[in-house]
Amino acid sequence: MASKNVELELVWLILAVVVGAYVFLSGFPKKINEWYYVVRLGKKKHSSLPPGDMGWPFIGNIVSFLRAFRSHDPDSFINNLVHRYGHTEIYKTSLFGNPSIIVCSPELCRKVLTEDELFEYGYPLSLNKLLGGERKSLHGVSKSEHRNLRKLLSSPINGHESLSIHIGYIEEIVVSSLEEWIHTNSIELLTELKKINFKVMTRILMGSADSISESMTNHYARLFQGLLSPLPINVPGFTFHRALQARKVLVNVIQAHLDERRCKNNDDPVPNIKTDVIDLLLEAKDEDGEKLDNELIVNLLLGFLLAGHETTAHAATWLTIYLHDHPEILQRVREEQVEIVTRRSSSQKGLTLNEIRQMEYLSKAIDETMRLCGMPLAIFRKATDDVYVNGYIIPKGWKVLVWNRAVHMNPEIYSNPKDFLPSRWDDHKPKAGSFIPFGAGSRTCPGADLSKIEMCIFIHYFLLNYRFERVNPKSPVVFPSPSPVDNCLARITKLPTP
Ligand code: HEM
Repeated sequence: MASKNVELELVWLILAVVVGAYVFLSGFPKKINEWYYVVRLGKKKHSSLPPGDMGWPFIGNIVSFLRAFRSHDPDSFINNLVHRYGHTEIYKTSLFGNPSIIVCSPELCRKVLTEDELFEYGYPLSLNKLLGGERKSLHGVSKSEHRNLRKLLSSPINGHESLSIHIGYIEEIVVSSLEEWIHTNSIELLTELKKINFKVMTRILMGSADSISESMTNHYARLFQGLLSPLPINVPGFTFHRALQARKVLVNVIQAHLDERRCKNNDDPVPNIKTDVIDLLLEAKDEDGEKLDNELIVNLLLGFLLAGHETTAHAATWLTIYLHDHPEILQRVREEQVEIVTRRSSSQKGLTLNEIRQMEYLSKAIDETMRLCGMPLAIFRKATDDVYVNGYIIPKGWKVLVWNRAVHMNPEIYSNPKDFLPSRWDDHKPKAGSFIPFGAGSRTCPGADLSKIEMCIFIHYFLLNYRFERVNPKSPVVFPSPSPVDNCLARITKLPTP
Protein backbone atom coordinates (compact mmCIF):
# COMPACT_ATOMS: atom_id res chain seq x y z
CA MET A 1 0.00 0.00 0.00
CA ALA A 2 2.79 2.39 1.05
CA SER A 3 4.70 1.68 -2.14
CA LYS A 4 1.53 2.33 -4.17
CA ASN A 5 1.19 5.73 -2.46
CA VAL A 6 4.83 6.56 -3.24
CA GLU A 7 4.23 5.64 -6.88
CA LEU A 8 1.14 7.84 -6.97
CA GLU A 9 3.03 10.74 -5.42
CA LEU A 10 5.79 10.29 -7.98
CA VAL A 11 3.28 10.40 -10.82
CA TRP A 12 1.74 13.57 -9.36
CA LEU A 13 5.17 15.08 -8.93
CA ILE A 14 6.16 14.37 -12.52
CA LEU A 15 2.84 15.70 -13.71
CA ALA A 16 3.30 18.86 -11.65
CA VAL A 17 6.82 19.35 -13.02
CA VAL A 18 5.61 18.83 -16.60
CA VAL A 19 2.67 21.22 -16.15
CA GLY A 20 4.92 23.75 -14.36
CA ALA A 21 7.52 23.54 -17.11
CA TYR A 22 4.81 23.93 -19.72
CA VAL A 23 3.35 26.97 -17.97
CA PHE A 24 6.81 28.46 -17.55
CA LEU A 25 7.98 27.73 -21.06
CA SER A 26 4.84 28.71 -22.91
CA GLY A 27 3.12 31.35 -20.89
CA PHE A 28 5.37 33.08 -18.44
CA PRO A 29 8.25 34.26 -20.67
CA LYS A 30 5.69 35.51 -23.18
CA LYS A 31 4.13 37.55 -20.39
CA ILE A 32 7.58 39.07 -19.77
CA ASN A 33 7.76 40.31 -23.34
CA GLU A 34 4.19 41.57 -23.21
CA TRP A 35 5.00 43.36 -19.99
CA TYR A 36 8.31 44.75 -21.24
CA TYR A 37 6.86 46.41 -24.33
CA VAL A 38 3.22 46.86 -23.59
CA VAL A 39 2.71 47.59 -19.92
CA ARG A 40 5.37 50.29 -19.83
CA LEU A 41 3.31 52.31 -22.30
CA GLY A 42 0.97 53.14 -19.42
CA LYS A 43 -2.54 51.88 -18.78
CA LYS A 44 -4.37 54.21 -21.19
CA LYS A 45 -2.19 53.50 -24.20
CA HIS A 46 -1.76 49.86 -23.25
CA SER A 47 -5.48 49.21 -23.41
CA SER A 48 -5.72 50.94 -26.81
CA LEU A 49 -3.18 48.68 -28.49
CA PRO A 50 -4.52 46.50 -31.28
CA PRO A 51 -4.87 42.78 -30.54
CA GLY A 52 -1.95 40.45 -31.09
CA ASP A 53 0.87 38.89 -29.16
CA MET A 54 4.39 40.09 -28.47
CA GLY A 55 5.98 36.64 -28.58
CA TRP A 56 9.08 35.61 -26.72
CA PRO A 57 11.68 37.81 -25.03
CA PHE A 58 14.37 38.98 -27.50
CA ILE A 59 13.10 36.97 -30.48
CA GLY A 60 9.46 38.09 -30.45
CA ASN A 61 7.45 36.18 -33.06
CA ILE A 62 10.29 35.67 -35.51
CA VAL A 63 10.15 31.88 -35.16
CA SER A 64 6.50 31.63 -36.21
CA PHE A 65 7.19 34.23 -38.92
CA LEU A 66 10.06 32.15 -40.33
CA ARG A 67 8.10 28.93 -39.95
CA ALA A 68 5.30 30.41 -42.05
CA PHE A 69 7.68 31.61 -44.73
CA ARG A 70 9.51 28.30 -44.86
CA SER A 71 6.25 26.41 -45.23
CA HIS A 72 4.22 26.25 -48.43
CA ASP A 73 1.76 28.71 -46.96
CA PRO A 74 3.41 32.11 -46.39
CA ASP A 75 0.04 33.62 -45.55
CA SER A 76 -0.30 31.38 -42.49
CA PHE A 77 1.48 33.98 -40.31
CA ILE A 78 -1.17 36.62 -40.98
CA ASN A 79 -4.03 34.11 -41.19
CA ASN A 80 -3.08 32.88 -37.76
CA LEU A 81 -3.42 36.42 -36.35
CA VAL A 82 -6.79 36.81 -38.06
CA HIS A 83 -7.92 33.44 -36.74
CA ARG A 84 -6.90 34.27 -33.15
CA TYR A 85 -7.89 37.91 -32.94
CA GLY A 86 -10.50 38.47 -35.67
CA HIS A 87 -10.55 40.72 -38.74
CA THR A 88 -9.27 43.86 -37.03
CA GLU A 89 -6.81 44.51 -39.91
CA ILE A 90 -4.29 45.84 -37.42
CA TYR A 91 -2.28 43.69 -35.02
CA LYS A 92 0.54 44.09 -32.55
CA THR A 93 3.54 41.82 -32.73
CA SER A 94 7.29 41.83 -32.22
CA LEU A 95 9.52 41.14 -35.22
CA PHE A 96 13.17 41.79 -36.13
CA GLY A 97 13.83 42.85 -32.53
CA ASN A 98 11.20 45.62 -32.48
CA PRO A 99 7.70 46.06 -31.11
CA SER A 100 5.64 46.38 -34.25
CA ILE A 101 2.18 46.98 -35.63
CA ILE A 102 1.05 45.14 -38.76
CA VAL A 103 -1.53 46.86 -40.96
CA CYS A 104 -3.48 44.91 -43.58
CA SER A 105 -6.34 47.03 -44.93
CA PRO A 106 -6.09 49.31 -48.00
CA GLU A 107 -7.08 52.35 -45.93
CA LEU A 108 -4.50 51.75 -43.21
CA CYS A 109 -1.75 50.84 -45.68
CA ARG A 110 -2.40 54.00 -47.63
CA LYS A 111 -2.43 56.13 -44.49
CA VAL A 112 0.91 54.75 -43.29
CA LEU A 113 2.55 55.13 -46.69
CA THR A 114 1.32 58.61 -47.46
CA GLU A 115 1.40 60.45 -44.11
CA ASP A 116 5.11 61.22 -43.98
CA GLU A 117 4.79 63.44 -40.92
CA LEU A 118 3.61 60.50 -38.87
CA PHE A 119 5.54 57.62 -40.40
CA GLU A 120 9.19 57.56 -41.46
CA TYR A 121 11.35 54.78 -42.92
CA GLY A 122 11.61 51.93 -40.41
CA TYR A 123 13.44 49.04 -42.03
CA PRO A 124 15.15 46.42 -39.84
CA LEU A 125 18.70 46.94 -38.63
CA SER A 126 20.06 44.37 -41.10
CA LEU A 127 18.74 46.30 -44.12
CA ASN A 128 19.96 49.64 -42.80
CA LYS A 129 23.45 48.30 -42.19
CA LEU A 130 23.67 46.59 -45.57
CA LEU A 131 22.44 49.59 -47.55
CA GLY A 132 24.63 52.15 -45.87
CA GLY A 133 23.52 52.94 -42.39
CA GLU A 134 21.10 55.40 -40.92
CA ARG A 135 22.67 58.55 -42.37
CA LYS A 136 24.43 57.78 -45.64
CA SER A 137 21.64 56.34 -47.80
CA LEU A 138 18.23 57.20 -49.20
CA HIS A 139 16.84 55.79 -45.94
CA GLY A 140 18.88 58.06 -43.71
CA VAL A 141 18.91 61.52 -45.31
CA SER A 142 16.56 64.35 -44.27
CA LYS A 143 13.12 64.63 -45.91
CA SER A 144 14.12 67.52 -48.14
CA GLU A 145 17.38 65.87 -49.18
CA HIS A 146 15.44 62.69 -49.91
CA ARG A 147 13.15 64.70 -52.18
CA ASN A 148 16.10 66.17 -54.09
CA LEU A 149 17.97 62.89 -54.44
CA ARG A 150 14.85 61.07 -55.49
CA LYS A 151 14.17 63.64 -58.20
CA LEU A 152 17.70 63.18 -59.45
CA LEU A 153 17.58 59.37 -59.42
CA SER A 154 14.12 59.28 -61.02
CA SER A 155 14.77 61.62 -63.93
CA PRO A 156 16.72 59.11 -66.10
CA ILE A 157 14.06 56.40 -65.64
CA ASN A 158 10.80 58.30 -65.95
CA GLY A 159 8.88 60.15 -68.63
CA HIS A 160 8.33 59.32 -72.30
CA GLU A 161 11.65 60.65 -73.55
CA SER A 162 13.89 58.98 -70.97
CA LEU A 163 12.11 55.64 -71.18
CA SER A 164 12.22 55.65 -75.01
CA ILE A 165 16.02 56.02 -74.85
CA HIS A 166 16.34 52.79 -72.85
CA ILE A 167 14.24 50.58 -75.14
CA GLY A 168 16.89 50.07 -77.85
CA TYR A 169 19.62 48.68 -75.65
CA ILE A 170 17.22 46.69 -73.43
CA GLU A 171 16.17 44.94 -76.65
CA GLU A 172 19.81 44.30 -77.60
CA ILE A 173 20.58 42.85 -74.18
CA VAL A 174 17.44 40.66 -74.17
CA VAL A 175 17.88 39.39 -77.74
CA SER A 176 21.56 38.50 -77.32
CA SER A 177 20.90 36.77 -73.99
CA LEU A 178 18.07 34.71 -75.46
CA GLU A 179 20.32 33.58 -78.30
CA GLU A 180 22.90 32.40 -75.75
CA TRP A 181 20.33 30.44 -73.75
CA ILE A 182 19.51 28.03 -76.57
CA HIS A 183 23.12 26.89 -76.76
CA THR A 184 23.06 25.35 -73.30
CA ASN A 185 21.11 22.36 -72.16
CA SER A 186 19.23 24.29 -69.51
CA ILE A 187 19.31 27.66 -67.79
CA GLU A 188 18.20 29.01 -64.43
CA LEU A 189 15.67 31.56 -65.62
CA LEU A 190 15.78 33.64 -62.43
CA THR A 191 19.59 33.83 -62.48
CA GLU A 192 19.65 34.74 -66.17
CA LEU A 193 16.99 37.42 -65.76
CA LYS A 194 18.99 38.93 -62.92
CA LYS A 195 21.96 39.18 -65.32
CA ILE A 196 19.80 40.85 -67.99
CA ASN A 197 18.33 43.37 -65.55
CA PHE A 198 21.72 43.97 -64.01
CA LYS A 199 23.15 44.88 -67.42
CA VAL A 200 20.24 47.26 -67.98
CA MET A 201 20.81 48.91 -64.62
CA THR A 202 24.58 49.30 -65.11
CA ARG A 203 23.87 50.87 -68.48
CA ILE A 204 21.53 53.40 -66.86
CA LEU A 205 23.96 54.08 -64.04
CA MET A 206 27.27 54.03 -65.89
CA GLY A 207 26.36 54.35 -69.54
CA SER A 208 27.80 50.95 -70.39
CA ALA A 209 26.24 47.52 -70.09
CA ASP A 210 29.42 45.67 -69.28
CA SER A 211 31.30 48.22 -67.22
CA ILE A 212 30.56 46.21 -64.10
CA SER A 213 31.20 42.52 -64.14
CA GLU A 214 28.21 40.18 -64.34
CA SER A 215 29.65 38.15 -61.48
CA MET A 216 28.50 40.99 -59.22
CA THR A 217 25.01 39.53 -59.44
CA ASN A 218 26.20 36.68 -57.17
CA HIS A 219 27.38 39.16 -54.56
CA TYR A 220 24.11 41.04 -54.93
CA ALA A 221 22.17 37.81 -54.41
CA ARG A 222 24.03 37.32 -51.10
CA LEU A 223 23.39 40.93 -50.10
CA PHE A 224 19.70 40.56 -50.96
CA GLN A 225 19.37 37.42 -48.81
CA GLY A 226 20.73 39.30 -45.80
CA LEU A 227 18.40 42.30 -45.99
CA LEU A 228 15.78 40.85 -43.69
CA SER A 229 18.08 38.78 -41.48
CA PRO A 230 16.21 37.85 -38.31
CA LEU A 231 19.58 37.55 -36.59
CA PRO A 232 21.88 40.35 -37.83
CA ILE A 233 24.95 38.67 -36.37
CA ASN A 234 28.28 39.32 -38.00
CA VAL A 235 29.80 35.90 -37.35
CA PRO A 236 30.89 33.43 -40.07
CA GLY A 237 28.09 31.04 -40.93
CA PHE A 238 25.30 33.62 -40.51
CA THR A 239 23.43 34.98 -43.55
CA PHE A 240 24.04 38.51 -42.33
CA HIS A 241 27.81 37.93 -42.22
CA ARG A 242 27.78 36.65 -45.81
CA ALA A 243 25.72 39.67 -46.84
CA LEU A 244 28.18 42.07 -45.18
CA GLN A 245 31.09 40.37 -46.96
CA ALA A 246 29.21 40.76 -50.26
CA ARG A 247 28.61 44.43 -49.48
CA LYS A 248 32.34 44.96 -49.01
CA VAL A 249 33.12 43.54 -52.46
CA LEU A 250 30.36 45.57 -54.09
CA VAL A 251 31.42 48.80 -52.38
CA ASN A 252 35.00 48.30 -53.62
CA VAL A 253 33.90 47.72 -57.20
CA ILE A 254 31.53 50.70 -57.19
CA GLN A 255 34.18 52.92 -55.58
CA ALA A 256 36.70 51.97 -58.29
CA HIS A 257 34.19 52.95 -60.99
CA LEU A 258 33.45 56.18 -59.21
CA ASP A 259 37.15 57.08 -58.99
CA GLU A 260 37.62 56.26 -62.65
CA ARG A 261 34.65 58.44 -63.63
CA ARG A 262 35.88 61.34 -61.49
CA CYS A 263 39.26 61.23 -63.26
CA LYS A 264 37.62 61.00 -66.68
CA ASN A 265 35.30 63.94 -65.95
CA ASN A 266 38.21 66.03 -64.64
CA ASP A 267 40.26 65.30 -67.78
CA ASP A 268 37.34 66.10 -70.05
CA PRO A 269 37.90 69.71 -71.15
CA VAL A 270 34.41 70.05 -72.69
CA PRO A 271 31.63 69.55 -70.15
CA ASN A 272 29.15 67.12 -71.78
CA ILE A 273 25.46 66.84 -71.05
CA LYS A 274 25.43 64.21 -68.35
CA THR A 275 22.65 61.64 -68.32
CA ASP A 276 24.15 58.62 -66.55
CA VAL A 277 23.08 58.42 -62.92
CA ILE A 278 26.73 58.29 -61.80
CA ASP A 279 27.46 61.65 -63.47
CA LEU A 280 24.29 63.21 -62.12
CA LEU A 281 25.32 62.18 -58.61
CA LEU A 282 28.88 63.44 -59.05
CA GLU A 283 27.61 66.83 -60.13
CA ALA A 284 24.78 67.13 -57.60
CA LYS A 285 24.98 69.50 -54.64
CA ASP A 286 23.39 68.98 -51.24
CA GLU A 287 21.22 71.48 -49.35
CA ASP A 288 24.32 73.44 -48.26
CA GLY A 289 25.56 73.75 -51.82
CA GLU A 290 28.32 71.14 -51.19
CA LYS A 291 29.07 68.21 -53.50
CA LEU A 292 27.55 64.96 -52.30
CA ASP A 293 29.55 62.93 -49.80
CA ASN A 294 31.44 60.06 -51.46
CA GLU A 295 30.02 57.44 -49.09
CA LEU A 296 26.48 58.60 -49.82
CA ILE A 297 27.06 58.32 -53.58
CA VAL A 298 28.46 54.78 -53.24
CA ASN A 299 25.50 53.72 -51.09
CA LEU A 300 22.99 55.30 -53.47
CA LEU A 301 24.52 53.48 -56.44
CA LEU A 302 24.65 50.21 -54.50
CA GLY A 303 20.99 50.53 -53.45
CA PHE A 304 19.81 51.61 -56.88
CA LEU A 305 21.49 48.64 -58.57
CA LEU A 306 19.98 46.28 -56.03
CA ALA A 307 16.47 47.74 -56.16
CA GLY A 308 16.61 47.79 -59.95
CA HIS A 309 17.54 44.24 -60.82
CA GLU A 310 16.56 41.73 -58.11
CA THR A 311 12.88 42.68 -57.89
CA THR A 312 12.29 42.92 -61.65
CA ALA A 313 14.02 39.57 -62.22
CA HIS A 314 11.77 37.88 -59.66
CA ALA A 315 8.65 39.44 -61.14
CA ALA A 316 9.64 38.50 -64.73
CA THR A 317 10.34 34.91 -63.62
CA TRP A 318 6.89 34.58 -62.04
CA LEU A 319 5.25 36.21 -65.04
CA THR A 320 6.88 33.58 -67.29
CA ILE A 321 5.84 30.75 -64.97
CA TYR A 322 2.23 31.94 -64.57
CA LEU A 323 1.82 32.41 -68.32
CA HIS A 324 3.13 28.96 -69.12
CA ASP A 325 0.96 27.41 -66.40
CA HIS A 326 -2.08 28.95 -68.15
CA PRO A 327 -1.86 28.07 -71.87
CA GLU A 328 -5.02 30.00 -72.87
CA ILE A 329 -3.68 33.20 -71.25
CA LEU A 330 -0.27 32.58 -72.79
CA GLN A 331 -1.92 32.27 -76.20
CA ARG A 332 -3.76 35.59 -75.77
CA VAL A 333 -0.56 37.36 -74.74
CA ARG A 334 1.25 35.86 -77.73
CA GLU A 335 -1.50 36.94 -80.13
CA GLU A 336 -1.27 40.49 -78.82
CA GLN A 337 2.47 40.48 -79.53
CA VAL A 338 1.95 39.08 -83.05
CA GLU A 339 -0.61 41.81 -83.74
CA ILE A 340 1.86 44.51 -82.71
CA VAL A 341 4.49 43.18 -85.12
CA THR A 342 1.94 42.75 -87.92
CA ARG A 343 0.69 46.33 -87.58
CA ARG A 344 4.06 47.99 -87.94
CA SER A 345 5.71 49.10 -91.18
CA SER A 346 8.34 46.79 -92.66
CA SER A 347 11.04 49.46 -92.25
CA GLN A 348 10.59 49.67 -88.47
CA LYS A 349 13.22 47.87 -86.44
CA GLY A 350 12.47 47.06 -82.84
CA LEU A 351 9.78 48.10 -80.40
CA THR A 352 8.65 51.63 -79.63
CA LEU A 353 7.29 52.95 -76.35
CA ASN A 354 3.89 53.44 -78.00
CA GLU A 355 3.81 49.78 -78.99
CA ILE A 356 4.70 48.78 -75.45
CA ARG A 357 1.86 50.96 -74.18
CA GLN A 358 -0.48 49.05 -76.52
CA MET A 359 0.31 45.72 -74.81
CA GLU A 360 -2.81 46.02 -72.71
CA TYR A 361 -3.41 42.36 -72.01
CA LEU A 362 0.23 41.75 -71.12
CA SER A 363 0.07 44.76 -68.82
CA LYS A 364 -2.86 43.14 -66.99
CA ALA A 365 -0.89 39.88 -66.73
CA ILE A 366 2.01 41.87 -65.21
CA ASP A 367 -0.29 43.56 -62.66
CA GLU A 368 -1.73 40.17 -61.78
CA THR A 369 1.79 38.80 -61.32
CA MET A 370 2.74 41.73 -59.11
CA ARG A 371 -0.36 41.12 -57.01
CA LEU A 372 0.35 37.41 -56.62
CA CYS A 373 4.10 37.16 -56.31
CA GLY A 374 4.22 39.26 -53.16
CA MET A 375 7.39 41.31 -53.61
CA PRO A 376 8.29 42.91 -51.30
CA LEU A 377 6.82 41.06 -48.38
CA ALA A 378 6.10 44.23 -46.43
CA ILE A 379 7.02 47.90 -46.43
CA PHE A 380 8.54 49.08 -43.14
CA ARG A 381 7.85 52.36 -41.38
CA LYS A 382 8.28 53.79 -37.87
CA ALA A 383 5.72 55.96 -36.06
CA THR A 384 7.18 59.38 -35.25
CA ASP A 385 4.35 60.08 -32.76
CA ASP A 386 1.47 58.26 -31.11
CA VAL A 387 -1.04 57.73 -33.91
CA TYR A 388 -4.67 56.66 -33.38
CA VAL A 389 -6.34 54.65 -36.15
CA ASN A 390 -9.61 52.72 -36.10
CA GLY A 391 -9.74 53.22 -32.34
CA TYR A 392 -6.29 51.68 -31.80
CA ILE A 393 -2.99 53.27 -30.97
CA ILE A 394 0.25 52.92 -32.93
CA PRO A 395 2.73 54.01 -30.25
CA LYS A 396 5.53 56.45 -31.07
CA GLY A 397 8.75 54.62 -31.98
CA TRP A 398 7.04 51.33 -32.85
CA LYS A 399 7.64 49.83 -36.28
CA VAL A 400 4.73 49.62 -38.70
CA LEU A 401 4.67 46.84 -41.27
CA VAL A 402 2.50 47.59 -44.29
CA TRP A 403 1.62 44.01 -45.18
CA ASN A 404 0.84 44.44 -48.86
CA ARG A 405 0.56 40.71 -49.46
CA ALA A 406 -2.42 40.55 -47.08
CA VAL A 407 -4.16 43.29 -49.08
CA HIS A 408 -3.38 41.61 -52.40
CA MET A 409 -4.65 38.23 -51.19
CA ASN A 410 -7.81 39.54 -49.52
CA PRO A 411 -10.80 37.67 -51.07
CA GLU A 412 -13.08 40.63 -50.40
CA ILE A 413 -10.93 42.78 -52.67
CA TYR A 414 -9.79 40.12 -55.14
CA SER A 415 -12.16 37.19 -55.54
CA ASN A 416 -10.36 33.82 -55.74
CA PRO A 417 -7.16 35.63 -54.77
CA LYS A 418 -4.85 32.66 -55.39
CA ASP A 419 -5.90 32.38 -59.05
CA PHE A 420 -3.93 34.02 -61.85
CA LEU A 421 -6.63 36.00 -63.65
CA PRO A 422 -5.37 38.92 -65.78
CA SER A 423 -8.98 39.53 -66.85
CA ARG A 424 -9.84 40.66 -63.30
CA TRP A 425 -8.14 43.91 -64.30
CA ASP A 426 -10.60 44.55 -67.18
CA ASP A 427 -12.11 47.95 -66.38
CA HIS A 428 -10.95 47.53 -62.79
CA LYS A 429 -9.59 50.63 -61.10
CA PRO A 430 -8.16 49.51 -57.76
CA LYS A 431 -9.28 51.72 -54.90
CA ALA A 432 -6.55 53.63 -53.07
CA GLY A 433 -4.27 51.34 -51.09
CA SER A 434 -5.61 48.09 -52.55
CA PHE A 435 -2.82 47.59 -55.13
CA ILE A 436 0.54 48.60 -53.71
CA PRO A 437 3.29 46.40 -55.17
CA PHE A 438 5.37 49.54 -55.74
CA GLY A 439 4.38 51.23 -52.49
CA ALA A 440 2.60 54.60 -52.35
CA GLY A 441 3.20 58.21 -51.40
CA SER A 442 6.44 60.13 -51.57
CA ARG A 443 8.55 56.97 -51.53
CA THR A 444 6.70 55.08 -54.26
CA CYS A 445 9.08 53.06 -56.40
CA PRO A 446 10.57 55.34 -59.06
CA GLY A 447 11.43 52.27 -61.19
CA ALA A 448 7.85 50.99 -61.61
CA ASP A 449 7.50 52.06 -65.26
CA LEU A 450 10.99 50.92 -66.18
CA SER A 451 10.51 47.49 -64.65
CA LYS A 452 7.21 47.03 -66.52
CA ILE A 453 8.90 48.03 -69.77
CA GLU A 454 11.72 45.56 -69.16
CA MET A 455 9.19 42.79 -68.58
CA CYS A 456 7.23 43.70 -71.73
CA ILE A 457 10.36 43.68 -73.90
CA PHE A 458 11.50 40.34 -72.50
CA ILE A 459 8.09 38.69 -72.96
CA HIS A 460 7.75 40.12 -76.48
CA TYR A 461 10.95 38.52 -77.79
CA PHE A 462 10.66 35.41 -75.65
CA LEU A 463 7.12 34.42 -76.59
CA LEU A 464 7.50 35.21 -80.27
CA ASN A 465 10.66 33.19 -80.75
CA TYR A 466 11.24 30.62 -78.01
CA ARG A 467 9.71 27.64 -76.29
CA PHE A 468 10.03 27.31 -72.51
CA GLU A 469 9.92 24.07 -70.57
CA ARG A 470 10.60 23.85 -66.84
CA VAL A 471 12.87 21.01 -65.76
CA ASN A 472 11.21 20.74 -62.31
CA PRO A 473 7.72 22.18 -62.68
CA LYS A 474 6.94 21.21 -59.11
CA SER A 475 10.03 22.79 -57.62
CA PRO A 476 9.15 24.12 -54.14
CA VAL A 477 9.07 27.86 -53.55
CA VAL A 478 11.11 29.64 -50.90
CA PHE A 479 10.00 32.87 -49.21
CA PRO A 480 9.98 35.72 -48.17
CA SER A 481 11.17 36.79 -51.67
CA PRO A 482 9.29 34.04 -53.44
CA SER A 483 11.54 32.07 -55.76
CA PRO A 484 11.56 28.48 -56.96
CA VAL A 485 14.25 26.50 -55.14
CA ASP A 486 15.79 25.53 -58.50
CA ASN A 487 15.75 29.20 -59.65
CA CYS A 488 13.34 28.06 -62.37
CA LEU A 489 15.59 25.63 -64.20
CA ALA A 490 14.33 25.46 -67.78
CA ARG A 491 15.11 24.28 -71.28
CA ILE A 492 14.80 26.99 -73.90
CA THR A 493 14.47 26.06 -77.57
CA LYS A 494 13.89 28.18 -80.63
CA LEU A 495 10.49 28.09 -82.29
CA PRO A 496 10.54 27.36 -86.03
CA THR A 497 10.33 30.60 -88.05
CA PRO A 498 6.80 30.97 -89.48
C1 HEM B 1 9.12 44.54 -59.98
C2 HEM B 1 10.00 45.45 -59.69
C3 HEM B 1 10.02 46.33 -58.49
C4 HEM B 1 9.29 46.27 -57.32
C5 HEM B 1 8.26 45.23 -56.90
C6 HEM B 1 9.69 47.40 -56.51
C7 HEM B 1 9.13 47.72 -55.28
C8 HEM B 1 9.43 48.87 -54.58
C9 HEM B 1 8.72 49.33 -53.41
C10 HEM B 1 7.53 48.64 -52.77
C11 HEM B 1 9.31 50.48 -53.01
C12 HEM B 1 8.87 51.37 -51.86
C13 HEM B 1 9.65 51.06 -50.60
C14 HEM B 1 9.20 51.91 -49.44
O1 HEM B 1 8.26 52.70 -49.56
O2 HEM B 1 9.80 51.76 -48.37
C15 HEM B 1 10.42 50.73 -53.89
C16 HEM B 1 11.30 51.80 -53.77
C17 HEM B 1 12.36 52.01 -54.61
N1 HEM B 1 12.62 51.36 -55.80
FE1 HEM B 1 11.58 49.81 -56.54
N2 HEM B 1 10.66 48.11 -57.19
C18 HEM B 1 10.88 47.50 -58.40
C19 HEM B 1 11.75 47.93 -59.40
C20 HEM B 1 12.62 48.97 -59.29
C21 HEM B 1 13.53 49.43 -60.32
C22 HEM B 1 13.61 48.83 -61.73
C23 HEM B 1 14.26 50.45 -59.80
C24 HEM B 1 15.34 51.29 -60.43
C25 HEM B 1 15.49 51.47 -61.68
C26 HEM B 1 13.80 50.66 -58.45
C27 HEM B 1 14.31 51.61 -57.58
C28 HEM B 1 13.74 51.92 -56.36
C29 HEM B 1 14.24 52.98 -55.50
C30 HEM B 1 15.47 53.85 -55.76
C31 HEM B 1 13.38 53.03 -54.39
C32 HEM B 1 13.47 53.96 -53.18
C33 HEM B 1 12.58 55.16 -53.41
C34 HEM B 1 12.55 56.15 -52.26
O3 HEM B 1 12.93 55.82 -51.16
O4 HEM B 1 12.14 57.28 -52.51
N3 HEM B 1 12.80 49.75 -58.17
N4 HEM B 1 10.46 49.75 -54.87
